[in-house]
Amino acid sequence: MTAQQTAAQAMERQALDHYWLPTQAWSNLAEDGVPIAVEGKGVKIRDAYGNWMFDGAAGLVLVNVGHGRTEIADAVRDQLATLHYASTFHFASPQVIALAAKVASLTPPGLDHLYFTSGGAEAVETALKVAYQYHANNGEPQRAKFIARRDSYHGISRGALSVTSSHYADGDRFAPILPDTTRIAPQPLYYAPGGMKESPAEFALSCARAVEDIMLAEGPETFAAVIAEPISFSAGVAVPPAEYWPELRRICDRHGVLLIADEVITGFGRTGRWFGMEHWPEGRPDLMTVAKGITSGYFPVGACIASDRVFESFKTPDAAFRHGFTYGGHPAGGAAGLVNLDIMEREGLIENSERMGAYLLDSLNALADRHPAVAEARGLGLMCGLELVADPDDGTPLVTNPEAVKLLNNTMAELGLFARVTDRFFLTPPLTVTKDDLDQIVDIVDRALSRVETHVGLA
Ligand SMILES: Cc1ncc(COP(=O)(O)O)c(C=O)c1O
Repeated sequence: MTAQQTAAQAMERQALDHYWLPTQAWSNLAEDGVPIAVEGKGVKIRDAYGNWMFDGAAGLVLVNVGHGRTEIADAVRDQLATLHYASTFHFASPQVIALAAKVASLTPPGLDHLYFTSGGAEAVETALKVAYQYHANNGEPQRAKFIARRDSYHGISRGALSVTSSHYADGDRFAPILPDTTRIAPQPLYYAPGGMKESPAEFALSCARAVEDIMLAEGPETFAAVIAEPISFSAGVAVPPAEYWPELRRICDRHGVLLIADEVITGFGRTGRWFGMEHWPEGRPDLMTVAKGITSGYFPVGACIASDRVFESFKTPDAAFRHGFTYGGHPAGGAAGLVNLDIMEREGLIENSERMGAYLLDSLNALADRHPAVAEARGLGLMCGLELVADPDDGTPLVTNPEAVKLLNNTMAELGLFARVTDRFFLTPPLTVTKDDLDQIVDIVDRALSRVETHVGLA
C-alpha cells in the first residue's frame, strides 16, 4: 500500500469516528468508504487517493467560477488581514456595501435592498420573516401563512424546512416540530410517464390557479407569501411553461400576497441569465433569496433581497427588523463576492452557461434517444437533469433500485465523474466548462448508463 493510500485510510477512520457527515447513513459510509476531497482546479477535484474527477455537480451547484481561483483566495486573505470582523449589528464594512450595490445593479428592476446571511436557509428564514413583518407594518398581522410547492427545496432549518416538501429533506419526519403554517401547491413540472394530458399552457395555468384555490379556501387575507424557485432543482429541473410565472404574479397581486423567488441555486448565471426570473420578467418577485453562486462557495454568503415596495414599509422608526446573524454581512464574504462577480463578467460566464447549457442538453437528449433508462432530459443553462427509469413502460424510477443507483455512482467515479444522483440524475458543472469537458462528461454518463441497463435487464 502506498503512503497516500495509508494516509487516506487513516483519515477515513477518523472521519467515521468524529465527523458526522450531512445526510449520509453512517453504515453506508462505513461499508463503502468516506469520500474525501483534497484539491480542486478548474472543473475538477482530486480525492485523497489521488484520483482527479470532473465535478459534474459544481460542489452543491455553487462553484460557478470553478475551483482553485487564487484571485478570490487572495482577496479573502487581504480582507481578513485588514478587518477580519466587525459586529454586523453595529457596523457596515466597505466590501459588503460594495457587494450589496453590485448585486443590486444585476438583479431585476426594483430588487435593490440586500439583507446578508451566511447561506440559503438563513436567507429563506429572513424572507419569510420579512414577508410577515411587511404585512404587520401595513396593519395586517393576520397574514401569517405561506404557500410552497410540492418537491421544492428551501433549506433545512425549521422555518425553511416548513416550506420545503422535497422528500429528500425528510421534512415529514420532522413535521411535529415544524410550524404548521404552510400549504402545498402543485409543482409545474411538465412531465408524466406515458405523456401529459394537457398542453403546457393549460398545465401551467392549472398549477398557478391551484395556488389561488388554496388562498380562496382559507381566506386570502390570511396568507403572507408564496415561495417558489424560478426552476425547482429538487423537483427535477422543473422548467415551468411560459404562462406559469406571469399568472402566479397576477394571483398574488389580486390577493395582496407577496411573491418570493428562491434563487439560491438559479442565481448568478446557473440558467444562462444572471437570475432565473429573467426568463419570466413578468414574474416580478417582491423578495428574492440568493446564496451559493454569489461567492461560488469561496466564502459562505447568502442574502434576502427586498423590492423597493417591501423595503419602504420598514423605514418608519417602529418598523425596525429585529433579526440578524452574527456572520451575516461578513467583510470577507463581501471581498469574495466582489471578485467572484468580476470574474463572471470578465470571462463571460453567463453567456458560457447559456451556450454550453444548450450543447449539454442536446447531448443529453441524444443519450435519451439511445438509452431506455432515460425517460427525459431537461435543462436550462447549465442546470440539467435526467429522468431515469428502471422500467420505461410504467415509468418506475430507477431510484427504486438502490443497487442500480450505487452501480451508476461507482461507475461514474471509476471513470472520473462526480455527479449528483438523488431520485433523479443531475448535471450542473461549473460555468467555466468547455465543449471538450462536456463531451468527456457525457461519454462517462453514456458508459455508466450502459452498465446500469445491463444490470437491470434493459440492455
Ligand atoms: C433553492 C434552494 N433554497 C435554499 C437552499 C438552502 O441553502 P443552504 O444549503 O445554503 O442553507 C438550497 C440549497 O440547496 C436551495 O437549493
